[in-house]
Amino acid sequence: MILVTGGAGFIGSNFVLDWLAQSDEPVVNVDKLTYAGNPNNLASLRDDTRHIFVHADICDSDKMQELLSTYKPTAIVHFAAESHVDRSIHGPAEFVRTNINGTFSLLEAARTYWPQLTSAEKEQFRFLHVSTDEVYGTLGPDDAPFSETTAYAPNSPYSASKAASDHLVRSYHHTYGLPTLTTNCSNNYGPYHFPEKLIPLIIANALAGKPLPIYGDGQQIRDWLYVGDHCTAIRRVLQAGKPGETYNIGGWNEKANLDVVNTLCDMLDALQPNGAGSSYRKQITYVADRPGHDRRYAIDARKIERELGWKPAETFDSGIRKTVQWYLENQAWVRDVQSGDYMKWLEKNYQQRNAASELFNKVQEKI
Ligand code: NAD
Ligand code: TYD
Repeated sequence: MILVTGGAGFIGSNFVLDWLAQSDEPVVNVDKLTYAGNPNNLASLRDDTRHIFVHADICDSDKMQELLSTYKPTAIVHFAAESHVDRSIHGPAEFVRTNINGTFSLLEAARTYWPQLTSAEKEQFRFLHVSTDEVYGTLGPDDAPFSETTAYAPNSPYSASKAASDHLVRSYHHTYGLPTLTTNCSNNYGPYHFPEKLIPLIIANALAGKPLPIYGDGQQIRDWLYVGDHCTAIRRVLQAGKPGETYNIGGWNEKANLDVVNTLCDMLDALQPNGAGSSYRKQITYVADRPGHDRRYAIDARKIERELGWKPAETFDSGIRKTVQWYLENQAWVRDVQSGDYMKWLEKNYQQRNAASELFNKVQEKI
């Protein structure tokens, strides 16, 4: 039995589905079901007794201790987090609470639980902390990609809270000997991705005939990792990673945002033309940039390949094709998550940006 946190979110639900497709080891899935958590992602497991869903907050340390002593997991795979940079700019407090205090509470529960295991169980136990490449800050166009030894330089409240949690995890290994593993991955994409993030937002807006918002000049670069590849990497790290180590996981797919959006438009033009005979590219709209926007992320994923034999199976082309197909086939899932809270978020995040870009466009016209 393993314990997963945040298993109703984007990556967590992909991981739980993948885990139970690959093995018979049951999963206890602890999730608070925030706006980002969606039980529908796990609908196919409704009658599967290997999946035990627990609606709880990772900040509740008594509850975390109780779950560990009840279920006696061989590993904790910790995904639960507030994960959206733009939301962290509007409201950082929840990021500090879940990402820092929540990770602390989980580590404390593990620190009580782990010493009580038999020596064989202690040897086997792992605490795998899922983190991000954003803790390393931003790269210039000619900088080498982030490696495991790159200094931390987080720039957003989100990445700062993740960096803090990584440091806590590191300290629990060094101080208490807890067998931790940390993975820092690049931008994921694929099925069940909440449509506030770039790729699913663009697909949803394109199909709805809405503007496709590009922050700033659209030349910011991200290194895209297909979520299925990420799940395989985590399983591999759990199986063979060395306690106390960190592993960077990336897709070797550096792309500028504008190129990603153009690719999505072209793919949708071919698979589901808009009926007006024009390209979805026409809906592209430049809006005000994100404050403190990191220019470039890129992951050097050679360590995990060299030491654990993992590398991504998908190219960007194959992964994005699968993703677009999934969204076209799962329009009902998208409609379901576009709740009142989602609409309020769109208003909060884009209204100001649009006003700023209208002003910008007017000034440009006068010039
Ligand atoms: P997500 O926002 O889609 O899902 C987060 C999940 O955690 C949700 O199900 C939510 O309900 C749950 N959650 C939030 N607060 C909680 C709390 N206090 N207690 C219990 N559950 C809580 O996030 P994601 O994109 O699936 O990311 C998963 C992990 O991967 C995060 O730690 C994130 O920092 C990391 N990561 C994500 C990406 C990416 O591209 N999505 C990239 C790098 C790292
Ligand atoms: P996002 O999916 O929010 O992930 P992250 O900020 O963690 O990288 O954004 C990916 C990139 O896309 C990022 O450079 C910001 C940009 N972006 C837009 O240009 N427009 C948008 O509407 C969104 C949500 C993101």
